[in-house]
Amino acid sequence: MPNVVVVGTQWGDEGKGRIVDLIAEKVDIVVRYQGGNNAGHTIVTDGKSIVLHHLPSGIIREGKLSLIGNGVVVDPKIFLEEVSALQKAGYSVGPSNLKISDKVHVIMPYHKKIDISREKLLGNKKIGTTGRGIGPVYEDKYARRGIKISDIIEPDSLYNRLKAVLNERNLYLTKVLESDALEFDEIYNEYIEYGKILKPFVCDVSKLLYESIGSNKDILFEGAQGTLLDVDFGTYPYVTSSNAGSGGVFVGTGINPKSIDYIVGVTKAYTTRVGEGPFPTEESGDLEERLRVEGGEYGATTGRSRRCGWLDIVALNYSARINGISAFALTKLDVLSGFKTIKICTSYKYNGNILNEFPSNIDILSKCVPVFEELEGWEEDLSNFKSIKQLPSNAIKFINRIEQLTNIPTWLVSVGPSREMYFEINNLFVN
Ligand code: GDP
Ligand code: IMO
Ligand code: MG
Repeated sequence: MPNVVVVGTQWGDEGKGRIVDLIAEKVDIVVRYQGGNNAGHTIVTDGKSIVLHHLPSGIIREGKLSLIGNGVVVDPKIFLEEVSALQKAGYSVGPSNLKISDKVHVIMPYHKKIDISREKLLGNKKIGTTGRGIGPVYEDKYARRGIKISDIIEPDSLYNRLKAVLNERNLYLTKVLESDALEFDEIYNEYIEYGKILKPFVCDVSKLLYESIGSNKDILFEGAQGTLLDVDFGTYPYVTSSNAGSGGVFVGTGINPKSIDYIVGVTKAYTTRVGEGPFPTEESGDLEERLRVEGGEYGATTGRSRRCGWLDIVALNYSARINGISAFALTKLDVLSGFKTIKICTSYKYNGNILNEFPSNIDILSKCVPVFEELEGWEEDLSNFKSIKQLPSNAIKFINRIEQLTNIPTWLVSVGPSREMYFEINNLFVN
């Protein structure tokens, strides 16, 4: 088994957690490389649904090492709650199988407060964030105002760093965002306690990965969010604040680009988006509601209704190019059963012209009208199918058409949320 990246090709919630869980069985190490607890990755096994926000989706596989790379941002309270919820559910989770990079930036109480206050102030211009403090913590990282996990595990470092930044953040909160200031002592006392509990989890993840690659361990890199939410390549400013695409792996873990063998693009058979921002193939009315209900399209993190629409090949080709996708994992094909016709957007119409490239300018993207190809649907319930041969011919035509339009093979088709509800149609991992 080689080293693999799993990345979302759309606006998140493609089913990455479920695909990571499948591949995790075959690897030694699973690593998150960006994002924080804005992610919600669902794994359904033995009738139980587990939603992971901070921890890599390999954590529920026995005998695997789970790592959190330096590109991730961690909310210690949520991290520890997630660890103890899994322990209570009978999973073995602790410092021997879960490590956090010492370079991880920590989500502080003012990050959440700034996130929420700013969204309120923006009114109908808001991003629609998850309210977890993600934008503000990455802002602080790049503004050289952040607090790292290596700081909170050393009381003196935490004291000095917090003294250096809190005044300024409080001024921003009170004078600009018209919110309340936070107390130094309260934060300091709370976070040194987290530091004590977190200390055994902390290590140099980059070095650990370097040594693991050297001893031929198989490693899986788990993306959060999706390429169209990537801070550089997504629908800016309606994006998250990290590099969700495969490029994020290198800066987010400290491995080098020579170490990756395969990049799996997790792609939902239709499209969803949570939060604000352009979405050319978005549906409305009964059709959107039907996709939402059939697909259970409600946020795994915030519970918000996901906006729903058809598969967008313009966006998918863009995403495939940015990520260097080796093959797709096509998820939620079962959700399309019962639709008389199924649409695929093959280009956009803008100002009377046909566009085949995903525009960078969101004002242009917002005005793009999708050009659809309509395929005949199928009635059969796909959830128990175990091979492409069992699929109705129209479902096969749908998969073939995606492959033709993207020139990328499909590795796997997922036909239900449970671990076993999938089948492979091409061999991806050729050792
Ligand atoms: P992630 O953020 O990319 O890991 O995806 P989420 O967990 O947020 O959302 C995907 C949702 O779809 C979860 O509720 C999964 O259990 C579910 N799911 C994943 N794959 C399939 C599938 O093939 N069919 C159906 N019906 N549900 C799926
Ligand atoms: P997973 O990993 C879907 C969206 C938010 C918002 C924008 C910015 O489960 O696919 P943020 O809180 O990151 O500043 O919000 O990004 N968003 C996600 N949408 N899936 C996610 O993660 C997301 N994480 C953030 O809804 O539009
Ligand atoms: Mg999700």
